[in-house]
Amino acid sequence: MNLMLTNPPMPDIPAYSQAGNECALFETAWTRQLPLLLKGPTGCGKTRFVGHMAAKLGLPLSTVSCHDDLAAADLTGRYLLKGGDTVWVDGPLTRAVREGGICYLDEVVEARKDVAVVLHPLTDDRRILPLERTGEVLNAPPGFMLVVSYNPGYQNLLKTLKPSTRQRFVAIEFDFLPKDREIAVVSAESGLDEARVAPLVELARRLRALKGHDLEEGVSTRLLVYCASLIDAGLAPKEAVRSAMIEPLTDEPDVRSALLELASAVIR
Ligand SMILES: Nc1ncnc2c1ncn2[C@@H]1O[C@H](COP(=O)(O)OP(=O)(O)OP(=O)(O)O)[C@@H](O)[C@H]1O
Ligand SMILES: [Mg+2]
Repeated sequence: MNLMLTNPPMPDIPAYSQAGNECALFETAWTRQLPLLLKGPTGCGKTRFVGHMAAKLGLPLSTVSCHDDLAAADLTGRYLLKGGDTVWVDGPLTRAVREGGICYLDEVVEARKDVAVVLHPLTDDRRILPLERTGEVLNAPPGFMLVVSYNPGYQNLLKTLKPSTRQRFVAIEFDFLPKDREIAVVSAESGLDEARVAPLVELARRLRALKGHDLEEGVSTRLLVYCASLIDAGLAPKEAVRSAMIEPLTDEPDVRSALLELASAVIR
């Protein structure tokens, strides 16, 4: 009999290049039932990291993009009219608490203040979610984990987390990858070879140095991937750089011309 060994099918794990020890930290926080706060600039890999870890640990992932109109009831649930009856419908946070798995609140500082009231008992040692409207108090199962993220850079001062909220999370600070690693990631994500990605990353690093002076945010890894994808699809590098690395950064004509000048010194 031919006993050919076949590899078991691997679930699709989104590729993630680790900057430090964050994968092990995530896993330990998960094991110890600690909530996690990710902070860092836009497009540096926070969402990708959470997707990667959820898939690696085999956990369901429910992501909520917070905005300034998002209220606690959008997370917990509400009574809705269905065929003449009023029925309670769980929100994404309640579903995740009932079923276990990761609930990821992206840009959590954007949400309304009443969201903190819901998060507090869930993110200390009580690990409970009281549902005022139904009278239930849900105990989060060991399989539940709350992950939140925000970008401390461009939020206005009023929109930071209160200490009593921040101090309920284990926090990881994200930044852009070191040069060689970022080149490898952008190349793998876009299909453009590393030699052609290298000058784009060099330009991004120079543009990032302008953050705080003329720019509120530097070029993200996300924009680098866009730019490399355009070039891989046949667009001229200068045109791709303008559309994917300069125009999204600023609306100021003066700043734009200065950035284009900087770009033309690096990208020929
Ligand atoms: N470490 C990394 N490994 C693999 N890909 C990465 C990494 N960092 C960034 N990327 C690439 O950059 C893209 C943007 O990353 P992601 O969406 O995770 O950023 P983010 O930090 O969540 O940004 P935002 O704060 O705007 O939501 C990803 O889709 C991926 O292509
Ligand atoms: Mg994100």
